[in-house]
Formats: sequence, C-alpha cells, structure tokens
Amino acid sequence: GRDLLSLADLQTQEIYDLLALAKQLKSGEIKPDFQRKTLGLLFRKASTRTRVSFSVAMHQLGGHVIDLDPSVTQVSRGEPIEDTARVLDRYVDILAIRTSAQLELETFAKYCKIPIINALSDLEHPCQVLADLLTVQENFSKLQGLTMTYVGDGNNMAHSLLLGCALVGMNIRVATPKGFAPDPAIVAQARSLARGSEVIVTHDPKLAVQAAHVLYTDVWASMGQESEAVDRIPIFQPYQLNTDLMALADRSAIVLHCLPAHRGEEITDDVMEGKQSRIWDEAENRLHAQKALLVSLL
Ligand code: CP
Repeated sequence: GRDLLSLADLQTQEIYDLLALAKQLKSGEIKPDFQRKTLGLLFRKASTRTRVSFSVAMHQLGGHVIDLDPSVTQVSRGEPIEDTARVLDRYVDILAIRTSAQLELETFAKYCKIPIINALSDLEHPCQVLADLLTVQENFSKLQGLTMTYVGDGNNMAHSLLLGCALVGMNIRVATPKGFAPDPAIVAQARSLARGSEVIVTHDPKLAVQAAHVLYTDVWASMGQESEAVDRIPIFQPYQLNTDLMALADRSAIVLHCLPAHRGEEITDDVMEGKQSRIWDEAENRLHAQKALLVSLL
C-alpha cells in the first residue's frame, strides 16, 4: 500500500487533490462508506488532536478504530516490530503510528502491505501540515505565492512545513536560535522540491516575519526534552510570537499553532486569542484533512 511517512511522499498535485477532497468532506458534499474497514492507532506518546481526530474521522466515515496502545500489547514487552507489523497487517486495513523513531515507521512500512501513516515522529508531522495548508487555503483562497514564517525550534513541525510549503509553492522561512536549526538534509530536500518559491533558514526572527502571510510556532521543548525546557526559555525568547513580532508581518497575516501551546513562552495569550488567530479552525481541520487522507489511502 501507499504510506505517508513524510510529506515528501506526496507530490504537489496529490496535496492539492487531498485539500480539495478535505473540503468536499467538510461540507458534506461527499460521504464515503468505510463499512468493515479498521484503522489501528499505535501511539507510543500522548496525543489529543491526532488520536481523537483520526478516531472521529474513521467513525464518521463508517469504519472502526482499534487502539493498539503499546502498553497493552506485546510491543512493550519487546516483540520485534518486524513480527508485530506482519501480524497487524493481517488484521487492520490501515495503521497510524506515533513514535520517536522514524526508522520504526520505515520498518512497519517495509513489513506491512497496508498503508502506514506517520502520526508524528522525531522527524516529521505530515498530518498536521495537511490541516495547516487546508486552513491557509480556506483563508486566502490560494497557497501559491504566500509566505509562511515559522519561528522557534527547528523540530519535526518545521521539517514538515519546509517540505509542505515547498511542494505547494509557498515561500517558507524558518527562524530558529543558533543550534536549533532544522535538519540540513530536510532543508536541502525542501530546496530541491521548491519550484521557484523561497526556502529560507535564518536566526533572525524579525527578518523572517517581514510581510509574511502566515505566522507559525510550536513548543520550545517537545516531548522528551522536558528537562531542557527551563534552559531553553532565554535562548528562545526573541522567537516568541507576540504583537511586536506580528506587527512586522503582512496586515492580513494569520497565526497558526499545532498545539498544545505554552502561553507566555512560544506564543502570547493575546496573539493566541486575537483576531488573527486561526488556531481552533486549524485544530478542527485535522479531522477533515485526515478524513481525506484515509479516503485516499484506502
Ligand atoms: N498537534 C498535535 O499533533 O497534537 P496532539 O499531540 O495532541 O496529537
């Protein structure tokens, strides 16, 4: 089957087709029937949005969801992934996996014929970016030529935004503190995918935000980096999404955040709750974008 391990597994037209399908599903224009299809959720880490939106999406499509929590399967007792994958392949129709190792996703994909979806890994968060692009397109009625600026940690979100924006023809600028830049291999990949749109990686948040249409940020310390969180605050402070930084963006600019947010750290409360925030629509769009993904992969 086809997998979504990285946003770069999709071609430009496939992303636009998924967004169009997501809109049709959102409006109720089409209602696929997934009777007897089962989605397995194998999440090694906590999740609110991804877990619930995938579950509700599958239920609304008429299918079933099974929670393959590693702590109640043999996964947590050391059964090899190669064996687990070959068994699950014979039970469920599609698997969404959250793991801290992209390699684990690749192993599942290698040993399964069913589609494997990356529901957040150390390297990428492709499902989130599909919802982000849907939200941007709903606001501006286009994607091509717009500028997205991401400020903060050059993490998995930054990686998928780099690839996603490059693929759809948006300019992407990523501003991080020194030592927190995105993976150079992914930046190079984004540059090779971009057809004329800019891919800029910088340490200057003010320069990055100039005239941007979408401002994006994410937590400064992800799951597993909690011990570093306090040390990171002063280093990341200039990258906080606040009204001063927003004043430099385009007047029509919107604000996105994948959530969960740490108010007062990467984003201020007034920006999160302000007129330019589309954060709650963005969270809702996880449901519609992932429905489109399930329909497309199944
Ligand atoms: N944005 C996101 O993936 O949220 P969860 O970690 O709650 O799934």
